[in-house]
Amino acid sequence: MSLSLPKGTYDVLPLVTDPKEAWRATALWHFFEKIVRNHTRLYGFEEIRTPIFERIEVFQRGVGEDTDIVMKEMFVFQDKAERTMVLRPEGTSAVMRAFIEKKLHTLSPVHRLYYMGPMFRYERPQAGRYRQHIQFGAEIIGNSSPEQDAEAIAFLYTLYEKIGLKDLTLYINSIGDKESRHAYRTALRRYLDPFRAELSPDSQIRLETNPLRILDSKDPQDQQLLKEAPVLKDYLSQDARSHHEKLKELLSLLAIPFAEEQKLVRGLDYYTKTVFEITSGKLGAQNTVGAGGRYDGLIKTLGGPDLPAVGFATGVERILQTLLSQEIPVPESQGPLLYLVPLGDSAKNTCLQLMQQTRALGLSAQMDMSGKKVKDALRHADQLKATYTIVIGDNELKSGIVSLKHMQSHTATETTLADLHKTLQRTGP
Ligand code: HAM
Repeated sequence: MSLSLPKGTYDVLPLVTDPKEAWRATALWHFFEKIVRNHTRLYGFEEIRTPIFERIEVFQRGVGEDTDIVMKEMFVFQDKAERTMVLRPEGTSAVMRAFIEKKLHTLSPVHRLYYMGPMFRYERPQAGRYRQHIQFGAEIIGNSSPEQDAEAIAFLYTLYEKIGLKDLTLYINSIGDKESRHAYRTALRRYLDPFRAELSPDSQIRLETNPLRILDSKDPQDQQLLKEAPVLKDYLSQDARSHHEKLKELLSLLAIPFAEEQKLVRGLDYYTKTVFEITSGKLGAQNTVGAGGRYDGLIKTLGGPDLPAVGFATGVERILQTLLSQEIPVPESQGPLLYLVPLGDSAKNTCLQLMQQTRALGLSAQMDMSGKKVKDALRHADQLKATYTIVIGDNELKSGIVSLKHMQSHTATETTLADLHKTLQRTGP
């Protein structure tokens, strides 16, 4: 049996030759990560890292027992002490578990945390949907104002703008507070009850447990029945309604265009009031690049203090695939500044020393260690995208003079070995 990737996963590699797979190139991931780290600094976020596995209860109580994620998509396993663990399907519940456990609320009234790492969902793989995907997410804990929602949305929207993603559409909705949703749940149940037998098996269960989840159903018959259903908007409390109106005003103030989408309820149970999703162009069925919302009750549900919070997460694969499909220019990977080719054993020693000294000066360098013919060594330097090469043989060792060849322009500069680094620093890449 040949060993291969688990289904729904992929490798990120330094060299990717298939243009369809170009989003898996390491350089592209670094490009994104650099932009993200800078963006988080501008917005004053600090990084949190949690384990990739947690006790199952974190997500059962956090995301909700009858959500698709918890019911169908978790990678569940027993550890040796027979505790039930899961590979984390999302970041928010895990971050809140850490927040509560370490009593972070005692240290500061507001926390602005971000994370980037793998999440696991046992889904049917397709473009933009993987069983292991990388999320960049951010959570702001301790503020309940619509200004805070606007800032969170602005963070994500301007991040996409900075990357260059085109055709951005921000969809927003309010799913109200507990009271609003209670009233709406009752109305929805009353409306759907006569059609109970026509609903899909999942939706029949959800009619009892959590009718709001029926709104997420992809079943065409469910969708048809929902056409005439009552809408959440009509059941919002005064507080939720004015929060939403204020948010819209603030988004306009920040010049962030938005569309209201009443069907947007999100597939996780913890949301309250604001929910949002951002799409960019077309990425097949999976064109939501990022999403989030307010979740004022989650920390309390998980056993912590009653603190409001808002956040979002974005799938990095989807961003990179969209970026390539929209032909947005990205920087190419960089090779070494200097590539040394020794001819003979004493030249090898000199090159090894030169390479060490070059690196000590903060300049990147590599050398041929396999004794290739000069032509082959230079071809390899070219593949590596080296900026300069030097071939060092007996003549160079004797005279102490080398020829510094610029690979792209095919021009050469003579320099003494003693002056090599000064010349490199003067000439630059
Ligand atoms: P989510 O909508 O489930 O929200 O996931 C966030 C983003 O992760 C999606 O918009 C999508 O870009 C990406 N994503 C999700 N599943 C997959 C997959 N199977 N393959 C590739 N990408 C995927 C959450 O997870 C919430 N924790 C977001 C949040 C943070 N809300 C508040 N704070």
